[in-house]
Amino acid sequence: MKVVMIGAGYVGLVSGTCFAEFGVNVTCVDVDEAKIKKLENGLIPIYEPGLTELVKKNVAEGRLHFSTELKDNVGKADLVFIAVGTPTRRGDGHADLKYVYAAAEEIAKHLQDYTVIVDKSTVPVGTARNVERIIRETNPNADFDVASNPEFLREGAALSDFMRPDRVVIGVESDRAEKLLRELYRPINLIEAPIMKTDLESAELIKYASNAFLATKISFINEISSLCEAVGADVHAVAKGMGLDGRIGRKFLHAGPGYGGSCFPKDTQALVRIAQEHGVSSRIVESVIEVNAAQKARMIKKIRNALGGSEAGKTIAVLGLTFKPETDDMRDAPALAILPALIDKGATIKAHDPQGMEEAKELLPASVSYHDDINATVENADAVVLMTEWNNYRGLNLKNIRQQMAGNAFIDLRNVYEPEQMEKAGFDYHCVGRA
Ligand code: NAD
Ligand code: UDX
Repeated sequence: MKVVMIGAGYVGLVSGTCFAEFGVNVTCVDVDEAKIKKLENGLIPIYEPGLTELVKKNVAEGRLHFSTELKDNVGKADLVFIAVGTPTRRGDGHADLKYVYAAAEEIAKHLQDYTVIVDKSTVPVGTARNVERIIRETNPNADFDVASNPEFLREGAALSDFMRPDRVVIGVESDRAEKLLRELYRPINLIEAPIMKTDLESAELIKYASNAFLATKISFINEISSLCEAVGADVHAVAKGMGLDGRIGRKFLHAGPGYGGSCFPKDTQALVRIAQEHGVSSRIVESVIEVNAAQKARMIKKIRNALGGSEAGKTIAVLGLTFKPETDDMRDAPALAILPALIDKGATIKAHDPQGMEEAKELLPASVSYHDDINATVENADAVVLMTEWNNYRGLNLKNIRQQMAGNAFIDLRNVYEPEQMEKAGFDYHCVGRA
C-alpha cells in the first residue's frame, strides 16, 4: 500500500511517520522547501518527543520519503491524505480553506488509477464534498473517492495518541474507500481501538464537537476557579470531587491560564461560524471563548496584584512560553496575550522555555530577554511566573530561586506547587483557584 501525506507539519509528519511504522510506504509532501530539505538531511523541523528516532528508523528502513513534488507521487498512491493547515481566516473567524482547496486542485491534476483522497485537516462541514467537486471539475475522468478522517492527536504526546487512539473516525461513502482505510488502520484496530464509520458530514463535525467539548471543560473549571478564590475553596479538590463521577471524568479539568494551542482557539471560533452560517445558535461555545479570554485577562490582574498593584518598573521572570509542555509550538499560547500586556504597563520580562524560545522571539515584543538557564532567568526578578508546566519546573530548587530573586512573588499559573510548601520557602505565593 502506498500513501501520500500532503503537509509535513505537526499532524502530517506524525501521521505519515506512524503509517510508515505500520509498514506502509509513505511520502510526505510539503510546499515548504526548507522543511523538506531539513527532513531529507535527517533534521526534524518540530519538537515532538520520540519523533526524531521514529523518522530516522523509517527512513533507514526505506518506508518513509520526503518530497516537494506531488506530480511523481500522487499517481502511484492508493490513498492521498490532506494534512495542511486550516488557520483562522483573517477578520471573520472562519477556518481558512485555501490550503486544502489548493491541495485538492493539485492532487486532481496527477491522479491516475483509483485513489482515495482523505481529509485529515480539521475542516468545516461540507469541505469533503467541496474537495470532491474541485477534483471532479479539475479532472473529470479521475477515478477517486473522498473520505474524512479527522485527527485527534495532542502535541507532546502525538506518537502514542496516534498509535493508541481512543478511536479512529472515518467518514466514507463507498465500500472501496472504506476497505482501503480499514486496511491502513488495521494495526490500530488490532489493539482494539474502534474504527467508527460515519457519513462525511458527521466525521467533520465529530472533530469540532470534540475540541469544543474539551475546551468547554477547561473554561468551566477556569470559571469555577474564580469562584473558588472568592469563597475560599480549593479548585483541585473541586475538580477531583467532580471528576470522580464517571459521567464527568477527571481529564481536562485542570485550571490554568486559559487554553491555547493550534486547535482549541481556532476550532471553537470556526464552530461558532459554522453554526452561524446554518442559522443555528452556539451559545455555549461562544461563552467558552469569552471565558477563555477573560481567564487570560484575570491572569494579568493576578500578576499585577502579586506585584503590589502595578507592574511598572518591575522585573518578571517567566518560566515556560509554549501553550503546553513537550512542544515548541507557540500558536495562541497564553504567554502571547499575557506578556505584551505586562510589558505595555512597564514590566521587564526575562523568559525561559526548554523548546519554545526560538519561535517566541518572532512573536513576543523585542524587549523580552531570553535565558538558557533557570537561575539566570530568575536573577534579580521581583516575581516569577510559572506559565507552562514543563517537567523541569516541577522540581525547582526553591531555596536557590528565592535567593537569586530581588522580590518574593511567585505566581504559579499551573498550580504545580503546594501553597504551604511555597510559603515555607519564603515566597508570596499565588496560584489559580486555591484561595
Ligand atoms: P502545520 O502548520 O504544522 O503544517 C501544515 C503544513 O502544510 C505546513 O508545513 C505547510 O507548509 C504545508 N502545506 C500547506 N499547503 C500545502 C500544499 N498545497 N501542499 C503541500 N503542503 C502544504 O499544521 P498542523 O498543526 O499539522 O495542522 C494541520 C491540520 O491538522 C489542521 O487542520 C489542524 O487543525 C489539524 N490538527 C492539528 C493538530 C495539532 O495538534 N497540531 C491536531 C489535530 C488536528
Ligand atoms: C488538542 C486536543 O486535545 C487534540 O485532541 C486535538 O487533536 C488538537 O487539540 P493540543 O492542543 O495539542 O490538543 O493540547 P491539549 O493537551 O488538548 O491542550 C490544549 C490547551 O488546553 C493547552 O493550552 C493546555 O494547557 C490547556 N489545558 C488542557 C488546560 O488548561 N487544562 C486542562 O485540563 C487541559
